[in-house]
Amino acid sequence: MYVCMCNGVTESAIRRAAAAGIRTLGELAANTGCTAGCGCCSETAEAVLLEALHAEGHRRPAMAMLATSISA
Ligand code: FES
Repeated sequence: MYVCMCNGVTESAIRRAAAAGIRTLGELAANTGCTAGCGCCSETAEAVLLEALHAEGHRRPAMAMLATSISA
C-alpha cells in the first residue's frame, strides 16, 4: 500500500527503512522522501514507522528519554 503518493513510498518501504535503522519521521523523510512533499501522509507514515519499530522492540528517542526521566 502506498503511504506517500507524492514520493511513491510504500508501507513496506517504511518497514524496511525501520529495519535498516531509521528511527524518526525526519530520518524517514531524509532517506525515502516520505512526508517531504505535501506532508499529508505524515500521520500514517509515523504510525507505520512506530508500529515497525515497536515490532522490532525499539522506541523513539524522545519516548526513551521520557521513560528515563520518569524512572530517574
Ligand atoms: S503524500 Fe507524502 S508528502 Fe505528499
